Amino acid sequence: TTYRIAVLVGSIRSESLNRKLADALIRFAPPDFTFHHLKIDDLPLYNQDEEEHPPEAVQRLRREIREADGLLIATPEYNRSIPGVLKNAIDHGSRPWGHNAWAGKPAGIIGLSTSACGTALAQQHLRNILAVLDVPTMAQPEAFIQHRDDLFDADGGIGPGSRDFLQGWMDRFATWVRLHVGG
Ligand code: FNR
Repeated sequence: TTYRIAVLVGSIRSESLNRKLADALIRFAPPDFTFHHLKIDDLPLYNQDEEEHPPEAVQRLRREIREADGLLIATPEYNRSIPGVLKNAIDHGSRPWGHNAWAGKPAGIIGLSTSACGTALAQQHLRNILAVLDVPTMAQPEAFIQHRDDLFDADGGIGPGSRDFLQGWMDRFATWVRLHVGG
C-alpha cells in the first residue's frame, strides 16, 4: 500500500515559512508515503449560491481531498486564529451538505510563526473546525514552532536542533495515518 497525503498550507505567499516547514517535514516521511500540495490560492471566496455548480478550482479541491488517505496541515496564525485562506479552503471542501470531502481523513497539524506563541491558538481553533468535519486529528505530539535562523539548514531541510523532534512528529503522524487507513 502507498499512502497518499494531501498537504494543506495555510499561507499562499511565495516565501511562506509554513510551506517550507511542510516540505522539510515531508523528507522525514517513510518511503510508502507520497505527498502533494492542495492548491488553494485560486479558490473563489466561498459563496453558497455556487455550491451546487462550483467552478473547476473547487471541483479539483474536492476531488484531491477525496483521493487522499490523510492530511498534513501546516498553518500560520493570523490574529490568534487560522488565516482566512485556510478557512475558505476548508469550507469549500466541506460542502454541499452531506458531501463533506474531509470526513474520516486522518490529519496531523503543525504550525510555524515568527512570534513566541507559535500558532498555539490557531491550532486550537483548527482542532475545533476539524472536529465538526469528522477529521480524526492527531493529538500528540503538539508542535508549536517559532522561527529561528537555524530552524532550516542551507539545503531547506530541518536544522540539527529540531531534527529529532520533527522526525518523531512525522513517525507518529505516519502511525496515525496507518491506524486509520489500515494496511
Ligand atoms: C501574523 N503573524 C502572527 N503570528 C503569531 O504567532 N500570532 C498571530 O496572531 C499573528 N498574527 C498575524 C496576522 C497577520 C495578518 C499576519 C500577516 C501575520 C505573524 C506570522 O507568524 C508570520 O507572518 C508568519 O511568517 C506567517 O507564516 P508564513 O506566511 O511565513 O507561512
